Amino acid sequence: MDYPSFLLCLVIAWAAIYLLPFAKKGNEPNQRKQPPGPSGLPIFGNLFSLGTMPHISLMELANKYGPLMMLQLGQVPTVIVTSADVAKEALQKNDVSFSSRHVVDAVRALNHHENSIAWLPAGSQWRKLRKVCNSLVFSASRLDGSQSLRRNKINDLLSYVKKSSKDGVAVDIGQAAFTTSLNLLSNTFFSVDLGDPNSEFAHDLRETIRSLLEEVGKPNFADYFPILQKIDPQSIRRRTSVFSGKVIGIFKIMIDQRLQGHRPANSINGNDVLDALLAINHEKDKEIETSEIPYLLLDLFAAGTDTTSSTLEWAMAELLHNPEKLKKAQIELQEIIGEGNPVEESDISRLPYLQAVIKETLRLHPPVPLLLPKRADTDVKLNGFTVPKNAQVLINVWAISRDPTLWENPTSFEPEKFMGSEIDVKGRNFELIPFGAGRRICPGLPLAVRMIPLMLGSLIHGFDWQLEDGVSPEKMDMEEKFGITLEKARRLRAIPICV
Ligand code: HEM
Repeated sequence: MDYPSFLLCLVIAWAAIYLLPFAKKGNEPNQRKQPPGPSGLPIFGNLFSLGTMPHISLMELANKYGPLMMLQLGQVPTVIVTSADVAKEALQKNDVSFSSRHVVDAVRALNHHENSIAWLPAGSQWRKLRKVCNSLVFSASRLDGSQSLRRNKINDLLSYVKKSSKDGVAVDIGQAAFTTSLNLLSNTFFSVDLGDPNSEFAHDLRETIRSLLEEVGKPNFADYFPILQKIDPQSIRRRTSVFSGKVIGIFKIMIDQRLQGHRPANSINGNDVLDALLAINHEKDKEIETSEIPYLLLDLFAAGTDTTSSTLEWAMAELLHNPEKLKKAQIELQEIIGEGNPVEESDISRLPYLQAVIKETLRLHPPVPLLLPKRADTDVKLNGFTVPKNAQVLINVWAISRDPTLWENPTSFEPEKFMGSEIDVKGRNFELIPFGAGRRICPGLPLAVRMIPLMLGSLIHGFDWQLEDGVSPEKMDMEEKFGITLEKARRLRAIPICV
């Protein structure tokens, strides 16, 4: 934000404090016991305590104030949960009260939040979209039916890696993972390659989705001082309107083409998600209108690409940083899949060490470290305190999954933690909830747990990897960067060597 805008924000925020005196809170009769927290500055409250790595700053504050604490972020009272027990109480016992969202301003662009599965309150419209996702988009039969489309895209990735190996050049793992994730999703949804490097259309769409994600991930003053939403001081909502409008426009064209009977070459009639969604239109009690489909697709792409590709980049980074773990995973693939054979989705259940590598990656590097912000629908009793109605609720899964009272060697990468363990990522074990838990748990989980092991297994079965510029495993930079997802600060670049 430039200096004049910052000053303007300051003045408006200052005025807001005087117009809407929240100091009233202390005079309430029968004051409810709110969670403890640090005292804050006038106007800004605890906003500056967040720093550039909010998940870490919040964990440090929780060490002082406890597993349920309350901060004032500008004008927004925010409650932070930092233990598996309190997360369980919030997401299991009080799931209904915490299943609506605190909406961030960037997603109000084009009123997207009023159509969005990720941002709608947990009412009937949201329930209908979740039902569509569970029964049509992510059902086992739908995902089984589109397996071969995803297999083809993994073959493309392997051809690219083989060529890089032949030329002796490094692969940018995050970039390759993003392109492949986009291709896996776009083929599952509408049998099209959005990651195709030779297609201008695909390139345009890919860059627009990336720009949209970047904007949504930027800290936004309007989120902390809602009075500023009208002027959109950093122009974030203006830019997200342009990007969302563009993506939605492209999806609308694709839907119109499909309705007119034009199908992409190689696609099988009735096989992809778009066929299934459009087929609902012939039903009497349809759960989704054709006009709502582009919004759903936008959410699925926005929620599914960066999360999946950053998990893959972190998994590869941890394996290259810990070569003995890489060797162990390769030996398992060698024994179960066999030399020269491709890894298939149906093999994943027979690869416990590969699955453990992915769980351990999601434990140390959950792509959405604070889950998506929730809102208390009413005053809720939690851990002996009252979470006030309308407070924003953040669950620090990053801190929970590094809690030294729950995990041995919490900061070390040891997939062995999960060998012979019942702990999974499906929202039942609150010490490991990278996909969330309760009603708002990630609906894309069934697809993510197919795509990530398929990509990772394929990249390490048949290839060894050497870090670029002779960097040794011990010297690798493993710093994080906080954004819409928790990315690796420095891109992972490694040279593949065919074995
Ligand atoms: C490693 C992969 C992924 C991770 C770690 C992940 C994680 C998450 C998390 C933490 C949430 C918020 C849960 C909450 O607020 O309690 C979420 C929501 C969501 N995710 Fe995922 N996700 C992943 C992949 C995907 C994929 C592949 C898709 C779809 C293609 C997807 C679609 C969604 C949607 C639509 C929501 C919003 C659900 C709602 O609010 O009702 N995600 N995800």
